[in-house]
Amino acid sequence: MRRLFIANWKMNPMTVAAARKLFAGIVLGTAGAKNAQIVVAPPVPFLVALPKNRRIALGAQNLFWERSGAYTGEISAEMISALGAEFAIIGHSERRALGETDAMINRKIKAALSSDLYSVLCVGERDRSDENFQHIVRKQVLADLLNVPKKHAFRLVVAYEPVWAIGTGKTVEPRDLFEMATYIRRTLLELFGKSLALRIPILYGGSVNAVNAPDFLNVAGVGGLLVGGASLDADEFSAIVKNI
Ligand code: PGA
Repeated sequence: MRRLFIANWKMNPMTVAAARKLFAGIVLGTAGAKNAQIVVAPPVPFLVALPKNRRIALGAQNLFWERSGAYTGEISAEMISALGAEFAIIGHSERRALGETDAMINRKIKAALSSDLYSVLCVGERDRSDENFQHIVRKQVLADLLNVPKKHAFRLVVAYEPVWAIGTGKTVEPRDLFEMATYIRRTLLELFGKSLALRIPILYGGSVNAVNAPDFLNVAGVGGLLVGGASLDADEFSAIVKNI
């Protein structure tokens, strides 16, 4: 089975030269990787600075739902797509922490899908001590994908990223990941029906590195990884991709 590996560079690295070097390292390091689809999501200015590569797709980390107009500082899905990106990460917890709501995320997802972008919806609980944590994730999926047309659902990806695992060195137990991936799949089934729901990749993200990556990739129903910190090290990220 082909796995999806997404490098979320966040607001890194600091210069065009460093971005090109990191990208070149990933291109080199992942050469010959089998059964892997690789996406690099750099800061938007670097989308134009990175060379086109037929093996590695580019993605954005955010976008705005309107096509154009008086929206100072925003960037539309059409613009992202025009820069050559094929993917968009939407609803990352770091954006939710800045005030992005499910209603906003829903509009962004629809805008991205209408612009033919593969949309990577990020969901995840803040804290496992809340006994309703599964329900919280379900509510996010239902609200963020509300009224997404079935004809666009084949371009959806869902990344399960528990907030407590992002950048902390803590990771989810494989058994718990299996449970959550199954639970998310069931929710997708309610929304889109069985055949579509089975086609939507469910990724794991949160403190993934080359050592722990196989633990998550071996979980049934997990279609790949969303990698933050470790994707800023070309060798580490390449080792994650080559793990399968
Ligand atoms: P991390 O980030 O791998 O640094 O934990 C993952 C993410 O935020 O997507």
